[in-house]
Amino acid sequence: MNSPSQKVVAFDLPDVHQPSFVCMPSEAWAKVPVAPTESERVELKDRAKRLLKERDAVLVAHYYVDADLQELALETGGCVSDSLEMARFGRDHTAKNLVVAGVRFMGETSKILSPEKRVFMPDIEATCSLDLGCPPEQFAAFCDQHPDRVVVVYANTSAAVKARADWMVTSSIGLEIVSYLHAQGKKILWAPDRHLGHYIAEKTGADMILWQGSCVVHDEFKAVELELLKEQYPDAKVLVHPESPAAVVALADVVGSTTQLIKGAQNSKATRFIVATDNGILHMMRKAAPDKIFIEAPTAGDGATCKSCAHCPWMAMNALSNLCAVLETGFETGAGEVFVDPAVSQQAYTCIDRMLAFAQERGISGKSASSAALADVHKGMGPA
Ligand code: 13P
Ligand code: SF4
Repeated sequence: MNSPSQKVVAFDLPDVHQPSFVCMPSEAWAKVPVAPTESERVELKDRAKRLLKERDAVLVAHYYVDADLQELALETGGCVSDSLEMARFGRDHTAKNLVVAGVRFMGETSKILSPEKRVFMPDIEATCSLDLGCPPEQFAAFCDQHPDRVVVVYANTSAAVKARADWMVTSSIGLEIVSYLHAQGKKILWAPDRHLGHYIAEKTGADMILWQGSCVVHDEFKAVELELLKEQYPDAKVLVHPESPAAVVALADVVGSTTQLIKGAQNSKATRFIVATDNGILHMMRKAAPDKIFIEAPTAGDGATCKSCAHCPWMAMNALSNLCAVLETGFETGAGEVFVDPAVSQQAYTCIDRMLAFAQERGISGKSASSAALADVHKGMGPA
């Protein structure tokens, strides 16, 4: 098979030492795997099924990864979900080993929650612009400037940043946790996504100071073009992930995590939706609501250059081929295995565990399978 090509991705790197906390432009790279032919896909999928069993491993996948990996996870008793449910599922599953198809912070969270399990990723270098844009030393300096605030970090951060936090949240539970802290009179330091932080501050009225990071995918959705698309499809409801800019969120009928957007589409009487989140989600949305029409929200105006084209370059690094490679050799060589420094892991554990306990206590789940329609989708796709 051909080797993957390399893509350069520009992202915001906020600098806390600058007087106005400005964002510096920075660059990272992502590897673009070569798409398999139809016969290669079938062979790779069969091989991955056999290897998952042999390795006593379960596949935990995010909605944004390749549709073949999502199907494989469903067919082998794994999960396809948002980052809250991925964390819970991996922690509670009885398999000895986990393979996390997503980005690095998801693999790290699983390892922190289950240090006794071996955790692998199809490509360990799949990262996230929010994680890259929040270096631990700079983040520590930001926290030191505001010792009176409760530190709440989004899941999309490194283990070292989580080690400095009081709470971790995902987009499925951020509003509830910040409302809870606000009701106790707490002031909040939030990192790293400025749009999600702004959205939560507006909704809850909490006093929040925000790290100025952004997601390369969601930051690209454009309100003006979205308004034009709404005019073209006046019957369409707009589904928006809150990592999108405020002007885009303002046009939404449903704002929420990936799972909440899928549920929003299922539960709505509307038949047409404009979707402002990574287009990898369309696979599961179409399965969850097969009679409905989903249109991607615009990512750029005329002549503009789209950084992500609504697909996360790092989520795209996950493929059947590198999953098989990791299952075949990673257990012996350590390639693709997630390691977190034990001291950092112990410190980071507290804020993640606090979130999961809060979720359990309040009955908040990142599981779209809890709704009847998606459960039907899973029917007939039991363990291979
Ligand atoms: P969810 O927690 O909603 O799945 O979001 C994770 C993410 O990385 C969105 O870009
Ligand atoms: Fe990070 Fe954005 Fe990719 Fe989600 S979509 S993993 S926030 S870069």
